[in-house]
Amino acid sequence: MARNIYGLDLGSYEIKVYDKKKDTIWKEKDVIAIANKKEVFAVGDEAFEMYEKAPANIQVVFPMKHGVISKFDHMQYLLQGLLKKDRGFARGAEYVIAVPTDVTEVEKKAFFDLVIHSTARAREVNIVERGIADAVGLNLDVQNTKGLFIVNMGGETTELSVLAGGGIVLNRLLKVGGITLDHAVSQLVRYNHDFLIGRVTAEVLRKRFGVFGENNTASMKVAGRDLITGVPQQREIAISLVRAAVKEPLEECVRGIESLLDRTPPEVRKAIYKNGIFLTGGLANLPGLEVYMEEMTGIRVRTAIDPDICAVTGLKQIIQSKELKKLAYSMLDENYRWMR
Ligand SMILES: Nc1ncnc2c1ncn2[C@@H]1O[C@H](COP(=O)(O)OP(=O)(O)OP(=O)(O)O)[C@@H](O)[C@H]1O
Ligand SMILES: [Mg+2]
Repeated sequence: MARNIYGLDLGSYEIKVYDKKKDTIWKEKDVIAIANKKEVFAVGDEAFEMYEKAPANIQVVFPMKHGVISKFDHMQYLLQGLLKKDRGFARGAEYVIAVPTDVTEVEKKAFFDLVIHSTARAREVNIVERGIADAVGLNLDVQNTKGLFIVNMGGETTELSVLAGGGIVLNRLLKVGGITLDHAVSQLVRYNHDFLIGRVTAEVLRKRFGVFGENNTASMKVAGRDLITGVPQQREIAISLVRAAVKEPLEECVRGIESLLDRTPPEVRKAIYKNGIFLTGGLANLPGLEVYMEEMTGIRVRTAIDPDICAVTGLKQIIQSKELKKLAYSMLDENYRWMR
């Protein structure tokens, strides 16, 4: 029986997996719940259900931080737990992993170690730069392009990639994502109303109101705690407050895009102006984001159809196509360019 191949896009918020044998893509929250400091209590979406609600003996851990593995052991337990979960996980499989470019060698190697040294006992591990995986997922001609600009906006990061001629020319990982926006929302609510809301509530508000669009008078009733009386309550939060909060971190992304464009070689930049900017990552679903980015950068912006699974869809195509397979690198390869 042929061994299975998994495509992995490990995010700070969600893990996306392509399973070649079943030809499916699935995703789960990148969260693990640990009981009594040692037992794995729940993984993925099930563990996320307990977030902000777990009893004192259960710790809910996000093992990725700003796009890299920050708690290695937890990440290993989590990945194995997810792959096993009714999914007929087989050892000795092959992995193709999307990795960020603008991180250290050690951080990159951790993605490789995650599957090679675990009970998963990977037979082979290949790496694809996430900007490339995204471009393939967008059905763009990566090999022959003169200039592409991809903005992957995730949970805790925004990865900016400039591509030309089948490779990455420039890349930058910003520490801004949906979770940063949620934090900004809860901070501003706290400051304006002396009212404390959780991260999940802030996310609900942000997803509903977005950054741009009609209906500037809406509001939404949410649960939280009054900081003066200490009593749990419900309050109306105005759309204007939410939009004001999310704009500040988003401006950092816009500045990042502008400064990367400034450093881009003129020929490549010309092609980018022609092709526009491509938005991927779950945060690209934010209502009004495309219009906002377009207005702020003055460049045409297009969003991937399913932006959160765009990179893993790219991995799927890379796994399936002989032609595209050369976009993946083996970390064991002598020519492995990051280790040189
Ligand atoms: N419909 C939506 N509207 C607004 N935001 C959304 C929507 N769907 C998902 N998101 C946001 O997308 C973010 C997750 O995106 P994604 O899955 O790409 O992140 P990730 O890959 O886990 O993180 P990172 O790439 O930063 O490590 C979350 O902050 C989530 O709130
Ligand atoms: Mg991501």
